[in-house]
Amino acid sequence: MSADAVATLAARLRAALRVTVLTGAGVSRASGVPTFRGAEGLWRQFRPEDLATPEAFHRDPALVWEWYAWRREMIAACRPNTAHDVLARWSETGCRVVTQNVDDLHLTAGTRNLVRLHGSIWELACANGCGQPRWRDERVPLPEVPPVCPRCSSLARPAVVWFGEGLAPEDVEAAMHACTCDVFLAVGTSSLVYPAAGLVGEARRGGAFTVEINTERTAASAQVDLAIQAPAEAVLLRVDELRTTNSEPRTLNRT
Ligand code: OAD
Repeated sequence: MSADAVATLAARLRAALRVTVLTGAGVSRASGVPTFRGAEGLWRQFRPEDLATPEAFHRDPALVWEWYAWRREMIAACRPNTAHDVLARWSETGCRVVTQNVDDLHLTAGTRNLVRLHGSIWELACANGCGQPRWRDERVPLPEVPPVCPRCSSLARPAVVWFGEGLAPEDVEAAMHACTCDVFLAVGTSSLVYPAAGLVGEARRGGAFTVEINTERTAASAQVDLAIQAPAEAVLLRVDELRTTNSEPRTLNRT
């Protein structure tokens, strides 16, 4: 990790009033949650078109649910790591966190006003759209797989966004709004999946200082003002230490 780059980021954060952080699967890697891409990524082992599309669910709901039940079990054994903890602290003073992760580890860490662009693996929805509001079910294992809608008894589905589906308009609006900021960090994301991948460009066009924290170079590395190639949990911890030791902690986003 470059000490200069980390010091630059800490200085930018100290001077910033509005900070936004976009996170991806890399942030949960140190907790034990597999990423999607990369050497040990889920998409090396599984095909998204078999498991994460409305067509796949229509074709074979039991198979799709088996995969989600397996991931729920894996995630249930994971705890938030330093990266989640630092971001949760920052959120208390107004930093906005937008995530693509469905594991809810940001919520477990206590992050306030979190925007979950891709939904939550712990929430279910009626696959038939009967009007039943989505519900939370954290039971592992689920007593019945595939589970059913409590209102109409048709199949339930994970309340996550699949390939080919639109994001909730209110989440997109909140994420776009958060792009108006002084510092925008893209952390632990391959920056390949839109619309999330477009947020860093949006922030940059709006005048934000843009930063990437990732163990590898990504599609966004050449676009950002500062690319830090190191694990998120180590960088965020160090930046947090520098941010708070070199000055009084300041309130973000409260102009
Ligand atoms: P990816 O799996 O595409 O990318 C994870 C990124 O994290 C990679 O660029 C890694 O280099 C990086 N990484 C791994 N460990 C890290 C660490 N300790 N610190 C920092 N970076 C690390 O995950 P996302 O970009 O989140 O969508 O993927 C976006 C979407 O694609 C997901 O939300 C999911 C997936 O298909 C849906 O399911 C709709």
